[in-house]
Amino acid sequence: MSGENTTDPLAGIDVGALTEEQAVAELERLAREIAEHDRDYHQLDAPTISDAEYDALRRRNRAIETRLPGLVRDDSPSRRIGAAPAQGFRKVRHAQPMLSLDNAFDDEEVAGFYGRIRRFLGLDGDAAVDVVAEPKIDGLSAALLYEDGELVRGATRGDGATGEDVTNNLCVTGDVPRRLSGRGIPKRLEVRGEVYMRREDFLALNRAQENAERQVFANPRNAAAGSLRQLDPAITETRPIRFFGYAWGEASDPIADTLWEARQRLEEWGFTLNEPARRCKVLEAALDHYRNLEEARATLPFDIDGVVYKVDRLDWQNRLGTVSRSPRWAVAHKFPAEKARTVLKSIGIQVGRTGMLTPVARLEPVTVGGVVVSNATLHNEDEIERKDVRPGDTVVVQRAGDVIPQIVTVVRERRPKGAKPFVFPDVCPECGSAAVREEDEVARRCTGGLICPAQAVERLRHFVGRNAFDIEGIGEKQILAFWGKGLVKEPADLFTLESRDGDGEIDPPLCDWEGWGETSVHNLFAAIDRRRDIGIERFLYALGIRHVGQATARLLSRRYETLDRFLEAMAEARDRDSEAYRGLVDVDGIGRKVAEVIVEFFAEPHNGRAIGDLRDRVRVRDAEPVESGSEIAGKTVVFTGTLETVTRAEAKARAEALGAKVSGSVGAKTDYVVAGPGAGSKLKKAQELDVTVLSEAEWFALIGAP
Ligand code: IVH
Repeated sequence: MSGENTTDPLAGIDVGALTEEQAVAELERLAREIAEHDRDYHQLDAPTISDAEYDALRRRNRAIETRLPGLVRDDSPSRRIGAAPAQGFRKVRHAQPMLSLDNAFDDEEVAGFYGRIRRFLGLDGDAAVDVVAEPKIDGLSAALLYEDGELVRGATRGDGATGEDVTNNLCVTGDVPRRLSGRGIPKRLEVRGEVYMRREDFLALNRAQENAERQVFANPRNAAAGSLRQLDPAITETRPIRFFGYAWGEASDPIADTLWEARQRLEEWGFTLNEPARRCKVLEAALDHYRNLEEARATLPFDIDGVVYKVDRLDWQNRLGTVSRSPRWAVAHKFPAEKARTVLKSIGIQVGRTGMLTPVARLEPVTVGGVVVSNATLHNEDEIERKDVRPGDTVVVQRAGDVIPQIVTVVRERRPKGAKPFVFPDVCPECGSAAVREEDEVARRCTGGLICPAQAVERLRHFVGRNAFDIEGIGEKQILAFWGKGLVKEPADLFTLESRDGDGEIDPPLCDWEGWGETSVHNLFAAIDRRRDIGIERFLYALGIRHVGQATARLLSRRYETLDRFLEAMAEARDRDSEAYRGLVDVDGIGRKVAEVIVEFFAEPHNGRAIGDLRDRVRVRDAEPVESGSEIAGKTVVFTGTLETVTRAEAKARAEALGAKVSGSVGAKTDYVVAGPGAGSKLKKAQELDVTVLSEAEWFALIGAP
């Protein structure tokens, strides 16, 4: 995943200043981004943003939802914990959800935690609330189910409700007792805790991985997660992962009256506890433990990223219960990020899959919190300017409990004489096309979408996709194979595959490739042939121009009708004073920002050449006339829930062909909501706003179809 979405212009607007429409868009963006980060973190074990950045996204989402509760999405991150389970393991439904922890970042927020507890329980402001303060382990949580003292199942947290069955792997994890011993063990008991890797084990594992030319892990947490989620337990067995027990889920008998005693029981039964823990009578004692642990942090054999405070009395824990995804009776007091000084040797530019140019600081390697850091992100050109970072500078680098390190500041006194400010390139280092910055955007992007190698696979995948050229039998896998062998570098190359294959230019021929065979190659060529005739709307969408989704492609094709007319207008529109430019900006729903991007795209000579080559091989049909006089022309429609007779895409296309605008959210301007089974918050919103709600059948009756 890319952090590119965070350049969204709305991201910079204060929650209180967002209009309702902006809030809808922002919640949609946050849901999407957080889901992607969850997947990167929980399923791929490869987070791309810091914990602090992730927390900030969640906080923003929560703040918008608090301000505008009517806009909470069905798929809101606040309704989910973590990511859905990965494929490959059997799924396990947790009898009690596996929760997450709320964070506190300073003493005041911890005092706030005590205050909330006292208020909730109706205690005096100075009433004693004992808490257990224990290290927050930077690992991943797991649940171990014991029946009659035997380990019968082990699971990951997954999305909190459903995890993965990793019993076989947990059976071979150090510190996980296969059989419990001692007195008073409940007949059925689920112990929860953290799977983690010690720092020295992690370093040794990475050395071994490197020697064997296998994947190295960014930090002990990722190494533990990757090791636990191996499909082959024999591999897990070779990995030095361990387990701390610190909590429990279902228990057929009570374990104790207090957490402190419960921890002792767990230890007696065979678990290793996360130490050093302390039972604290007052807030100051808890904070004192926090500071001691912060100091001792580097000397502990494992990574910790804070201290967890938990109410000691279990009857109080019960009464306090949970609020959304976290218990009210616990809070994680996070440590500030770890920092180090080093020299910035140079600034490199990486081009992302969507063409975004990201500056990367190449550093003199330095250890930050036990991890060797040699690169750090500089985010964008404004950031370089704002921090005035120059090659040769000594910089402060921080890891905020996570993977991608950041540059915090420059140590100005150590700047070498003659250090020159960095000049951000205005051409793409990968393909030489112009790299431009859109209005209100911090990112600079390569405009050579059709030819840039950094973007090629993504662009080609989009090009053959269902709503674009829709070439059956070609997906990411095939694109990667063709690209990897240098056979398809840009869209036009797809249409010469057959002739090149016939001429013996492709060696070995496609039908001898693994997994292909004559029939599939024949089918592939037939599928490509079927798309040599394509409507202008799909053609424009397929080019993958930024901001030109299906709706904009449709607007453009209706406005210009033929590709020739459109290209001519785009050529003229390079002159921003021209009639053609004004015409483009004035297309309803386009505006100046999108117009700029479109004009830049067609002004890039590399793209012009690639489009020319493509046109030599496909025929682009003119736009189809819009059906007019429909009942729903000009109306705004929202589809929600499951449609039973057509797909969502088809319903949308049909409505738009009749001149309706299809929107993703219900608002004051919505005319109809078409609700199928499973409709949730949008239906509710429609009812609140008194918007006409139609069933699928009523909808088709209205538009006289299908
Ligand atoms: S208690 C109901 N205690 O932190 C809360 N969690 O940020 C259950 N974690 O998912 C968790 N050390 O994976 C608890 N001493 C500790 C912990 C701990 C690490 C993890 C755990 C949890 C995450 C929440």
